[in-house]
Amino acid sequence: MKKPHVSIAPMLDWTDRHCRFFHRLISPHAILFTEMVTTGAIIHGNKDRHLAFSQQEHPVVLQLGGSDPATLATCAKIATEDYGYDEVNLNCGCPSDRVQNGVFGACLMNEPDKVARCIEAMNKSISVPVTVKCRIGIDDCEERPFLDRFIQTVMNAGCGEFTIHARKAWLKGLSPKENREVPPLRYDIAAEIKQKYPQLKIILNGGLCSIGQIQEQLQIFDGVMIGREAYQNPWILAEIECRIFEDNRNVSRYDIIERLIPYMEEQMASGVPLKSMARHILGLFHEQRGGKKWRQVISQESHLEGMRPDDLLNRAAAATQQDWKLAA
Ligand SMILES: Cc1cc2nc3c(=O)[nH]c(=O)nc-3n(C[C@H](O)[C@H](O)[C@H](O)COP(=O)(O)O)c2cc1C
Repeated sequence: MKKPHVSIAPMLDWTDRHCRFFHRLISPHAILFTEMVTTGAIIHGNKDRHLAFSQQEHPVVLQLGGSDPATLATCAKIATEDYGYDEVNLNCGCPSDRVQNGVFGACLMNEPDKVARCIEAMNKSISVPVTVKCRIGIDDCEERPFLDRFIQTVMNAGCGEFTIHARKAWLKGLSPKENREVPPLRYDIAAEIKQKYPQLKIILNGGLCSIGQIQEQLQIFDGVMIGREAYQNPWILAEIECRIFEDNRNVSRYDIIERLIPYMEEQMASGVPLKSMARHILGLFHEQRGGKKWRQVISQESHLEGMRPDDLLNRAAAATQQDWKLAA
């Protein structure tokens, strides 16, 4: 049987390498995305800071923000040849002002020919897949013909996989956060694309937060991408392992904590502050007894001078267990 495709969404400021390492410990099978990295940051900035990752994170996809074909091709080459990314994804779905000023992200959906040239250039420079993440439309476009034209043009340029965040983006008047909540979800429009272009790999994104929903959409789409739920409630990834990938390793939250400690020690030794790793694990006990205590200890103590990972995590874990004992 074909392995299901489940990816964890690119999320700026959230899915950095430390977050991805944590997610990988819980989920050996999910495909992990970086935050969006702009071509400018790669060309002019500190490459290691933007691109380095741990080998355990594979398979990992670099999401690029940009719209100049030659620059995107250069960045895709650096990312795959020098750093070993498994796929490069072009962001055509992010609606923030900063992104619009740079003419990339969701506003690129207005320029399918430009996106096509970007895909062609990247495909020429690298051998791993080049994919696209987009919305179903922008502003007051009529979604069906708009999305169809975009997909067809970009597909003809050599893109075989699209992750569709199944809502429109409003480029004026809505904040990025509102743009993830206000425009209604239209899985039906994404499904029509899958039906019309069965040869394409279509991954559904937006609002997926239960195993039931994921199972249902995997009947229709080639895969699903989970964003906020995976970050806020990372244990859903363990449920996905068990129920979608049928991997019954039976790992506990405490096993994950134990495996994180040596990683955090190693990263701290190379100068990473504990708090910048610990912030990603606040949701580990989401809606569990002791979850509030866990968050409290992690958020209040991770920034303390001299705090070590084993101290912090053992204290936070003990606080959750204390809650269990009180309830027993
Ligand atoms: C904090 C945050 C940052 C995001 N950053 C990006 C990004 O860098 N690139 C991108 O394509 N989408 C970004 N998104 C959108 C997500 O990838 C995803 O499409 C969206 O959250 C809908 O999926 P969900 O309902 O499962 O969260 C971001 C979302 C959040 C919450």
